[in-house]
Amino acid sequence: MTNFDQPIERLGTNSVKWDAILQMYNEQELLPLWIADMDFKAPAGVLQAYQKLLDHGVLGYADTPESLYTAIIDWEKKHHQLIIEKEEILFFSGVLAGIATAVQAFTKPNDTILIHDPVYPPFANIITTNHRQLVRSQLIEENGHFVMDFGDIEEKFKQHQVKVMILCNPHNPGGRVWLKEELQQLGELCRKYGVLVFSDEIHQDLVFSPNEMTSFFAAGEGFSDFSLQFTSMTKTFNLAGIKNSIVFAKNEKLRKQLEHKQTENFQQEINTFGLIGMEAAYETGEEWLAELLPYIQSNIAYTMTFFQEHLPKVKIMKPEGTYLLWLDFSAYGLADEELEERLVHKGKVVLNAGISYGPSGKQHMRLNVACPQVILAEGLKRIAAALS
Ligand SMILES: Cc1ncc(COP(=O)(O)O)c(C=O)c1O
Repeated sequence: MTNFDQPIERLGTNSVKWDAILQMYNEQELLPLWIADMDFKAPAGVLQAYQKLLDHGVLGYADTPESLYTAIIDWEKKHHQLIIEKEEILFFSGVLAGIATAVQAFTKPNDTILIHDPVYPPFANIITTNHRQLVRSQLIEENGHFVMDFGDIEEKFKQHQVKVMILCNPHNPGGRVWLKEELQQLGELCRKYGVLVFSDEIHQDLVFSPNEMTSFFAAGEGFSDFSLQFTSMTKTFNLAGIKNSIVFAKNEKLRKQLEHKQTENFQQEINTFGLIGMEAAYETGEEWLAELLPYIQSNIAYTMTFFQEHLPKVKIMKPEGTYLLWLDFSAYGLADEELEERLVHKGKVVLNAGISYGPSGKQHMRLNVACPQVILAEGLKRIAAALS
């Protein structure tokens, strides 16, 4: 049984979450509830696999063994009812590296790519740094969660001749686990307008029952003909630093085109630690994950209660998956800079600024609750103090 309650000192480990912020904000004793990694040790089976490698002591180039493919295929079949063949799998050094390569492989400069607003900020960065046109479709808040505005998406597909949509499934920062029907409706629009879908499914395993993950591939007949699925075990098992990911490409033409760009960029050789961690996580991490999910849910419940009792003016989007909460601070009437300033310098707590997720993220913050509950409790107290 994993003890998720046990705090682990991360200061002084070159952690972005804990160490980088001290310089970033020129402030001491900050408590981080931001960037999406967890303050928990990785599953024991992953650590043992690394120990075995270190005991052997030779860290040469690594191949992708048959057992790795089997581990991935079995996981997807068991957990997502997705049938993946070995030849449909490509490896990348991170989901974002895969998406950036796909943007280069399937679009030209000035082509238009659509993303949601709000959505995980690097999507927009990849689009603009590659000189593609960025178009956003704002999500609608309905009954306390986000839904897609299909009318707006269709209008934008037509008006801007959109080539690609980058979808976040489940959605970061809203924690929405898109329903099969929603993905189906989106997919039919993409098919109608010839839009390729890059479905980022890195949060696929962090889903709370009774919500069910539907991969874009499985949402409609033939959807894998015009989509690529990007995923990884790094979010599921808290291995973000090993930078490793997989792309599922069922359409051979798309796969070859992506592979060609990957080779052109010489990105096809994958870090030894990434490959070992991935295989060990999929082979041995199931029990750890089964223990993690209720812990995250209890942290979400704790946070909701805290806000109801101490900060009822903050509107919270309760996630159906992920360990991220989207918080609306607009009732305080503070400008984004002032809100961040108060949290960081008065409360000494760091969240992700909502505005970085798109214009609709104004006066919002994203909170990461994947930490021991004592740390979360202290962080929430600091948020309350910042706003007092
Ligand atoms: C939706 C989403 N995609 C991609 C990433 C980053 O993936 P990687 O580190 O594999 O590039 C994250 C990390 O938080 C994420 O939330």
